Amino acid sequence: MNSKLLDDFTKDVLETAKRNSTYRTLRTMETPESSHVKICVAGAHASSEQLLLASNSYLDLANIPELKQAMAQAVLDWGTGSGGARLTTGNKTPHNELENELAKFKGEEAAITFNTGYMANVGTISALCGKSDIIFSDALNHASIIDGIRLSRATCVVYKHNDMIDLERAIQESKAKAIGNEPSPNATKQKMLIVTDAVFSMDGDLANLPELLRIARTYNCLLMIDEAHATGVIGQTGRGLAEHYGCEHADVTVGTLSKAIACEGGFVAGKKQLIEFLKNKSRSFIFTTAMAPAMAAGALRNLQFLESHPERVLQLQENVKFFCEALQREGLNVPQSPSAIIPIIIGDEAAALNASARLLERGYVIPAIRYPTVAKGQARLRASLMATHTREELERATTAIVQVIRSTNYV
Ligand SMILES: Cc1ncc(COP(=O)(O)O)c(C=O)c1O
Repeated sequence: MNSKLLDDFTKDVLETAKRNSTYRTLRTMETPESSHVKICVAGAHASSEQLLLASNSYLDLANIPELKQAMAQAVLDWGTGSGGARLTTGNKTPHNELENELAKFKGEEAAITFNTGYMANVGTISALCGKSDIIFSDALNHASIIDGIRLSRATCVVYKHNDMIDLERAIQESKAKAIGNEPSPNATKQKMLIVTDAVFSMDGDLANLPELLRIARTYNCLLMIDEAHATGVIGQTGRGLAEHYGCEHADVTVGTLSKAIACEGGFVAGKKQLIEFLKNKSRSFIFTTAMAPAMAAGALRNLQFLESHPERVLQLQENVKFFCEALQREGLNVPQSPSAIIPIIIGDEAAALNASARLLERGYVIPAIRYPTVAKGQARLRASLMATHTREELERATTAIVQVIRSTNYV
């Protein structure tokens, strides 16, 4: 084995990352995911609890005794693993029950689950589109959408972030080109797919679903939205963008069970025929072992909890409003976020890392997000809130953030 080649290559990449302040290391949390946690600081055990302002578990469901009990019971009932792919022996009763409930929750005919949201995006896009198709993708779409597009081998046209005029222009241009290039009689009919995050994961802003629907209908495009950060967060009862805007659904709605639902897995909801198609054609659904049935049962229980506790969604939305307004009153450049994600832009990579480290020393967990996750020079503190944060905690966090930022003149 050529270990020198491997050593030289990996060393080079890691050293470049260190020089650019983009080197990544794992941090260890020694407590379950909840609003108060203990994260090791500089490799040492945390002496006291920290306030977590960084979780995707927006409704704080991961550590609720009755929900943990339900999943523990599901392990006793269904064992530790599924033992096979969904299409062989892996499909168990909880998988079907979860998919039925997801379809009901999203107001769609049917749903299909995947082992992760990442796999849902990759497997759906690559099943729907091929070499002869065109995909219009928002410039800030999540990596799993980008990877799905790459795998599909379709032509990708990236439109400016959330810019509906640019999207429409790009579609018109592609249509004009298609008219110029007469397809051969044997060519498959070209499809156009518009794909976008519903809530953008690093900025927290929302896709303009009504306008996307209009454009999709006008130009005969398919529309797919990824509601990873919208499910359980957006809309009065957390059902996502269609509920928020009071409009139709996209043709394809992707979601994840790993964020507000606080388990693991991804899903697609839509028409029955679309779901049957994905069961037949989506490689990340077919060629992998089914999620553990206990996970499916746990996700079902958490989803039912969310459905019966809409007040948690409201509490989360009120917390976001309160926190953004508090930061804005202090003069920070923070948008009034419509989601639970609140970006506090710092700019410089090293400065963002430093601010995050200093907040952690003071007991606040707010990660620095840097290139390549966001564009160079757009490094930020990315706060995300939970329904269970108290006003007093959010006030204390605001004071700490403002002090750290002011003391170093970052913003
Ligand atoms: C917008 C978006 N889509 C998809 C995913 C992937 O979901 P999962 O973590 O369930 O794989 C994420 C984050 O992880 C995300 O932020």
